[in-house]
Amino acid sequence: MIFRQLFEPLSSTYTYLLGCEETGLAVLIDPVVSAMERDLLELKHLGLTLAYTLDTHIHADHITAARHLKEAVGSKIASPACDRLPCTEVGIEEGKPFQVGSVTFQPLHTPGHTDGHFAYLLNDRVFTGDALLIEGCGRTDFQNGDTDALYYSVREKLFSLADDVLVYPGHDYKDRRVSSIAQEKKRNPRLGGDRTLEEFRDIMANLNLPYPKFVDYAVPGNRQCGVCPPNLPENMANYCRQMTESRQG
Ligand SMILES: [Fe+2]
Repeated sequence: MIFRQLFEPLSSTYTYLLGCEETGLAVLIDPVVSAMERDLLELKHLGLTLAYTLDTHIHADHITAARHLKEAVGSKIASPACDRLPCTEVGIEEGKPFQVGSVTFQPLHTPGHTDGHFAYLLNDRVFTGDALLIEGCGRTDFQNGDTDALYYSVREKLFSLADDVLVYPGHDYKDRRVSSIAQEKKRNPRLGGDRTLEEFRDIMANLNLPYPKFVDYAVPGNRQCGVCPPNLPENMANYCRQMTESRQG
């Protein structure tokens, strides 16, 4: 299997490229529209054909490249079935493996950051989106977020995976790239150790995070699998403009 972890600096998003060596087919998890040319170049270098894009959830901080990649190279769009996006070709459900060549993901419904959020287990790796970040987790104060649901998604579903499963997050803001289930169970300050649900509720209620500046553009755009809004203010134009570096991360 071919694996690349790619970083988009504006929203600090990790995109994951998984390729099947036998069929030459590839999937991109959480591609970002402004990094699409970088991703296409990477696929070309590796001699892979993009078969699918696969989103973990409806993002609020960037626009998915799913639609633009489909238009550019004919890839199909996979995303959680419960979000019921009409632009999606494959609806992901828990208990229904998602296969691209010899690469087989086990989808895990992990609500809390958003109600439709999924993580994807692939052998000894799990792509946790914004449910579980390295020593953190996604916020739960918009997009049908639910603190209690996130507590159970992480502690009962993700933390029940084998200790040595590697955790690949949807974002990192401190240049960290990978963790493990054992490490997060031990070190995650919000959800690890013997954190109770009451303590977690308290932590999440007191984060004092600012209103996310791009959410009002990103969510409607992502409900259409990645449409850049025509009325984007100039100070946010970078979210839809191709980033200048051809290779990042
Ligand atoms: Fe998110």
